[in-house]
Amino acid sequence: MDRTFVIVKPDGVERRLIGEIVARLERKQLSVVAAELRTIDRATAEQHYGEHAGKPFFNDLVAFITRSPALLLVIEGPGETFKVVRNLMGATNPKDSAPGTIRGDLAIEMGENLIHGSDSPEAAAREIALFFPNLA
Ligand code: RTP
Ligand code: MG
Repeated sequence: MDRTFVIVKPDGVERRLIGEIVARLERKQLSVVAAELRTIDRATAEQHYGEHAGKPFFNDLVAFITRSPALLLVIEGPGETFKVVRNLMGATNPKDSAPGTIRGDLAIEMGENLIHGSDSPEAAAREIALFFPNLA
């Protein structure tokens, strides 16, 4: 089995969309193998989004992802799980995301796009280790 890392971002928790978003992952036959509702601290957020350090939107991104509790998830599937999740999420900018995707159906602003998913198997391993260091 193959794992990836997902965050239902603070906007998703605030909008009470945890059930909707997790249901979409489960309907695809992906499994939740770890879950924690946590307010992400600034240092962890800066490390998680380290690839974007220095970009004009970085400070807003860190402020957003730390503003209130997020649902941290480890998601398991039969293979290429990161790609399956990214396809379910839709494009980064919800104005471009296809209908039928989580962002396409439920979000409208780039800065409030509901869900994070690792963008490669390497990122998945790094992010799972960052957020769930005790997970086998
Ligand atoms: P994420 O990491 O959150 O899953 O999103 P992503 O892979 O689809 O997009 P990424 O390029 O990694 O960007 C991370 C988050 O930063 C915000 N963003 N704003 N204003 C901008 O040009 C801009 N670009 C990215 C988005 O909220 C995006 O989810
Ligand atoms: Mg990303």
